[in-house]
Amino acid sequence: MSLSATNISKKYSSKHKQSYILNNISISFKKGEFVCLLGPSGCGKSTLLNIIAGLLKPSSGEITLNGKKVTEVGVDRAVMFQECALFPWLTVIDNVEFGMKIAKVPKKERREKALKYLKMVHLTKFQNCYISELSGGMKQRVALARALTLDSEVLLMDEPFSALDSQTKDILQKELEKIWWETKKTIIFVTHNVEEAVLLGDRVIVMSANGGKIRKEFKIELGRPRESQSIDLSYIVAQVKKELREEVERVAKGEYDNDWNFEEDTILHDSDFDLGAGL
Ligand SMILES: Nc1ncnc2c1ncn2[C@@H]1O[C@H](COP(=O)(O)OP(=O)(O)OP(=O)(O)O)[C@@H](O)[C@H]1O
Ligand SMILES: [Mg+2]
Repeated sequence: MSLSATNISKKYSSKHKQSYILNNISISFKKGEFVCLLGPSGCGKSTLLNIIAGLLKPSSGEITLNGKKVTEVGVDRAVMFQECALFPWLTVIDNVEFGMKIAKVPKKERREKALKYLKMVHLTKFQNCYISELSGGMKQRVALARALTLDSEVLLMDEPFSALDSQTKDILQKELEKIWWETKKTIIFVTHNVEEAVLLGDRVIVMSANGGKIRKEFKIELGRPRESQSIDLSYIVAQVKKELREEVERVAKGEYDNDWNFEEDTILHDSDFDLGAGL
């Protein structure tokens, strides 16, 4: 598997101006790699993910998967969004089977696969429930099971756990890491949460706010499974936060006309480390 984004730019034009959301971004992803994308709100993370998914066309540059140019959505790239986009009128198992139904997978195979992945996300007992009967964490698990049924080499995840409470998030992060380890998928994971990125990523890419470029890349060479409280992890988290903080501060200064006074304590002690989420 080889996946690359080469010289990707995306610009939007209005009557008066053109603005670059992404500006000549190139990234290569290795087979089985877990890559996290971090960056201030509005820096273009979702845009990049949607371009890789084939949901959005770049203004220039190209995405290639196994040497073939990506021009549309495909079963080789499963996507999981922040709001899990499940169908409330279908049961859990019917939701999980939905993508396979579209892909015309035969009924028996569909059911077997759906059960396999529901087991993987610990929802076998809830297969006949409707979505409204589930908690937020359970809904995200259904969405994850549905994304896994495509057996895609690549899984694209856009802030999948950001709406969850921290305990549920911890559990799902561990489950995702285990599933990733077992399935050897390449995962591109967008988050605002620095700890989550360092906990899960082989690589953490910090995007810069203006002009959509890559600011810095961190290779996370810690063993797995990782402990969020470990000293090694905390050290890297602090480094990444410093990088992101400088970027958020730069944006804030621009937005507040250089009148912005950055309060160290406000963000450094934010329990959720969602730097930039509110900008
Ligand atoms: N259709 C559009 N027309 C014009 N501008 C757009 C359009 N879609 C997105 N944008 C702009 O592109 C920028 C990047 O948006 P994107 O959703 O990729 O950011 P993001 O990094 O995912 O932000 P967040 O962390 O808040 O989810 C934003 O400034 C947004 O306003
Ligand atoms: Mg986004």
